[in-house]
Amino acid sequence: MENINVAVIGVGHFGQRHAEKYKGFSHVSLRAVCDIDQERGRAAAQKYHANYYRSTSELLEGEEDLQAVSVCTWPSNLARNAELAISAGKHVMVEKPMALNVPDAEILASLAEKKRVILSVGFLTRFDPKLQRLKKAIVEGTIGDLVQMSSRRDSPYPDKVLDDVGIVKDVAIHDIDIARHLFGSDPVEIRATGTPHNPTFEDNAEITLEFGEGRTAIIESNWLSKDSIRQVCVTGTKGSSRLDYLSRELTILGEAQLHVTDCPDEDPLGQELDHFTSCILKHEKPLVTALDGIKALRIAEEAVKSLQASQCHRL
Ligand SMILES: NC(=O)c1ccc[n+]([C@@H]2O[C@H](COP(=O)([O-])OP(=O)(O)OC[C@H]3O[C@@H](n4cnc5c(N)ncnc54)[C@H](O)[C@@H]3O)[C@@H](O)[C@H]2O)c1
Repeated sequence: MENINVAVIGVGHFGQRHAEKYKGFSHVSLRAVCDIDQERGRAAAQKYHANYYRSTSELLEGEEDLQAVSVCTWPSNLARNAELAISAGKHVMVEKPMALNVPDAEILASLAEKKRVILSVGFLTRFDPKLQRLKKAIVEGTIGDLVQMSSRRDSPYPDKVLDDVGIVKDVAIHDIDIARHLFGSDPVEIRATGTPHNPTFEDNAEITLEFGEGRTAIIESNWLSKDSIRQVCVTGTKGSSRLDYLSRELTILGEAQLHVTDCPDEDPLGQELDHFTSCILKHEKPLVTALDGIKALRIAEEAVKSLQASQCHRL
């Protein structure tokens, strides 16, 4: 297979995981890493045997002959770094939430179209083999027509100071994308509630997405729990399914009970980046498109507005 040269921009917690995955692919050369934190960037470069750059501009002006980059910086500057890379003709995997707002995300998408490069967004849950098995059960009619989805992501507060996005754009956005994916359409109505315990951003949210004809997704997330919970339940006209992302248990109950054991338990991030780089080599459209990123972000923005308005009503 042909080889492609890649770099990772932002090698904090998640960027290092991107670097590690790229390093394990035979069809990819991790040429460079970039981070404004020089100590962290240099350490990552040494660890992954890559060259170090301290800014995206320097990386793009360098001599790495890159075809693609992963952008894993803070949400507040994902869009700016992705824009620089796309302008330089690179294919981009930008981490969620893609941008801080929809207009910035739309600029990225139209630039990518103009430059004829792939722009994909880091919704890695889509690459979880168990979620894919659940989607297959829906498509094949095992649980009938999908009526309800209910998801939950609870965790303690992250270690880092939350200064760019709240829980809706940081965490719930994964389940917003999954709801669109499982229902195979866009919601027609969005409502959200949640009382913030943080002066800057919402830290808990209950989002309801109406997909029409009585089909609903309820998405709960918070940073207030002592426990980590990550799960999704779906109910259809003929059955139901439950997936615990952490314990890796998937149960599908159709007309005959079925405990699923027939799907592999591969690493979703590895699958996501393998898919992204393979799409570049094969000139194929990725499973998660820039439009998916924009649509999820738009729903997240509406949810935040609804959540804020619900607090105003209470006053
Ligand atoms: N898809 C997922 O499941 C998932 C999981 C975790 C994080 N993320 C996303 O990944 C991104 C990074 O999250 P994290 O937890 O690794 O954060 P982090 O703070 O650990 O790392 C971010 C890194 O980016 C660097 N950086 C910031 N601005 C930069 C710039 N202009 N140029 C170069 N480097 C820059 C920082 O110095 C830092 O090292 C976020 O957008 C987050 O939403 C996605």
